[in-house]
Amino acid sequence: MAWKTLDDMELAGKVALVRVDINVPVEDGRVTDATRIERIVPTVKDILAKGGKPVLLAHFGRPKGEVVPEMSLKVTLPALEAAFGRGVIFAEDCIGLPAKQAVAALSEGDILLLENTRFHAGEEKNDPALAAALAALGDVYVNDAFSAAHRAHASTEGIARLLPSCAGRNMEAELKALESALATPERPVVAVVGGAKVSTKLDLLGNLVAKVDYLVIGGGMANTFLAAQGINVGKSLCEHDMAGTARDILDKAKAAGCEIVLPVDVVCAREFRAGAENVTVAADACPADAMILDAGPETVKRIEEVFGKCKTLIWNGPLGAFEIDPFDAATNAAAKKAAELTKSGALVSVAGGGDTVAALNGAGASEAFSYISTAGGAFLEWMEGKTLPGVAALES
Ligand code: 3PG
Ligand code: MG
Repeated sequence: MAWKTLDDMELAGKVALVRVDINVPVEDGRVTDATRIERIVPTVKDILAKGGKPVLLAHFGRPKGEVVPEMSLKVTLPALEAAFGRGVIFAEDCIGLPAKQAVAALSEGDILLLENTRFHAGEEKNDPALAAALAALGDVYVNDAFSAAHRAHASTEGIARLLPSCAGRNMEAELKALESALATPERPVVAVVGGAKVSTKLDLLGNLVAKVDYLVIGGGMANTFLAAQGINVGKSLCEHDMAGTARDILDKAKAAGCEIVLPVDVVCAREFRAGAENVTVAADACPADAMILDAGPETVKRIEEVFGKCKTLIWNGPLGAFEIDPFDAATNAAAKKAAELTKSGALVSVAGGGDTVAALNGAGASEAFSYISTAGGAFLEWMEGKTLPGVAALES
């Protein structure tokens, strides 16, 4: 690897600015999944062990350059303190007086968290002035936020060019795991891509068909592909304006020899709610006043057959409305099959993305997967072979 790690850095008495991704799910003021927080513990502990002072830089939500109190990082403090096993100091701004004073007051053993970097418009613009103001707070920069490395922002990219920089332990682990599982994957390779919208995963789908042997499309996205083939999807979530794009992707797949797996049967309901009355019908028979909320059992059988033929599985996005029972059935069944094949040594399975990990956890399958990435977007872009700006900046 072309970048430095914490092993290469002299940290005694130094302030280490650590970019972390603690953009975690929160409900009623409580962190509901601390996976991303747990993954940064080794980095923070190693910095402390080397006599450095960790100062955490992070974003939370998408406040678009404004101070949005509901998107304060304060909400993560209890979960951070539990994970680190010690108190965490908080500064109300990531630059300016509050940040400077908090950094100046740090003693050995202290951990400081700075407020949401996206409260400043310069963050997402990668504004050199913001990067410089952040850099001025510390002596070295450590990027441990693989899951935000697809963003060229001031705290992920600009700052790395201003200070001696290295990758944190989580960044190292993510890149190593993905390299070893997917750099030269054993074929055939199947990718499962689900989720609501085609429009957000367009580039990905177009690039993936050239790289994988099977592409399973699930979730709301599958409806767009069905509709693009002239199928009536009733009131289903569907991007009708993406029909042309969906057809292009199907053509591209055909030319590349990639088999696209779309639902052949679907579970439909008239309401989006747990326990809603539902019917399973052929993919082209969704009632006009109903919506498709999951793939049906025939589709699951087909997906299981494909998994059985493959040696490598890449998974991002659920197959149905996994958050409401019973519309998690296809996702659960496919996840269990993947887990079983992985356990028997027949399959290398890698999954990434918040929803995906939640769905796999719900199915009790994530333990058996070969690797679970904390990243969603960054994982997908890495898989497409794109350069991640946050990683590239560490290399220079
Ligand atoms: C994520 O949760 O996907 C990362 O933290 C990046 O967040 P973003 O998609 O808002 O840039
Ligand atoms: Mg995202």
